[in-house]
Amino acid sequence: MSGPEENIPRHIAIIPDGNGRWAESRGLPRNEGHRRGTEVMRDVIEAALELGVSSVTVYAFSMENWGRPSDEVDAIMSLLRRYLRRERDELAAKGIRVRAIGRLDMLDADLVEAIREVERSTEQGSDMRLTFALSYGGRTEIVDAVRSLARDVASGHLEPDAIEEKTLGARMYAPDVPDPDLLIRTGGEHRISNFLPWQLVYTELWISEALWPDFGPDELREAVRLYQQRERRFGRTGAQARGGS
Ligand code: IPE
Ligand code: IPE
Ligand code: MG
Repeated sequence: MSGPEENIPRHIAIIPDGNGRWAESRGLPRNEGHRRGTEVMRDVIEAALELGVSSVTVYAFSMENWGRPSDEVDAIMSLLRRYLRRERDELAAKGIRVRAIGRLDMLDADLVEAIREVERSTEQGSDMRLTFALSYGGRTEIVDAVRSLARDVASGHLEPDAIEEKTLGARMYAPDVPDPDLLIRTGGEHRISNFLPWQLVYTELWISEALWPDFGPDELREAVRLYQQRERRFGRTGAQARGGS
């Protein structure tokens, strides 16, 4: 049996859902839920760092979220910008390396600037990788990866028959980050909503009924504890998985 300190998921992916419902159930504007959501983010990231998780990827804004009312989109964007500016120095001090993935060209220039600043300030961080998926779509990521391979084929630098899973995987937005071991989705929905479809094929899923603003370090630790009880078989038999052969 492995102890609690062992078998910590190397990479946790998070879908922080439920901000709107949290606010609406209190008679507050949805944007107040998003504001509370950014506060929760810092505590959960800190708890992941303390657990020894080496990578966290957060779904901050999906391609589909562009279809929300423009005042909500604007509010989320300005909260993200403020969050990145406010947290930048502390993230750097904690040894957390931050990156953003997605169609960042669709974002306002001042948000892109805040992203680049936090990426620059934290690039020496070696204790944890924190990746924000924003303006991110999983199918868009695969399309972008395929386009990149197709360009190499068209220019004669790549043979179609040389394309393997790892060739395509290497063209994803963050190919140096291992696939997630654990996906946590708050807000109770049982779907992945276009988040990391390529990378999640063997990820353990944990759906929390808690709305994101009610999620916290205790819930994160509970999710990790339950993850540690799972048997990951990767298509093999239980005996093979336990024997490690
Ligand atoms: C998730 O919370 C945050 C983003 C999509 C940016 P929601 O805003 O989707 O909250 P619900 O699901 O409507 O409660
Ligand atoms: C997923 O939540 C996206 C983020 C948390 C950023 P959504 O609220 O957009 O997902 P659906 O619409 O319920 O599938
Ligand atoms: Mg939602």
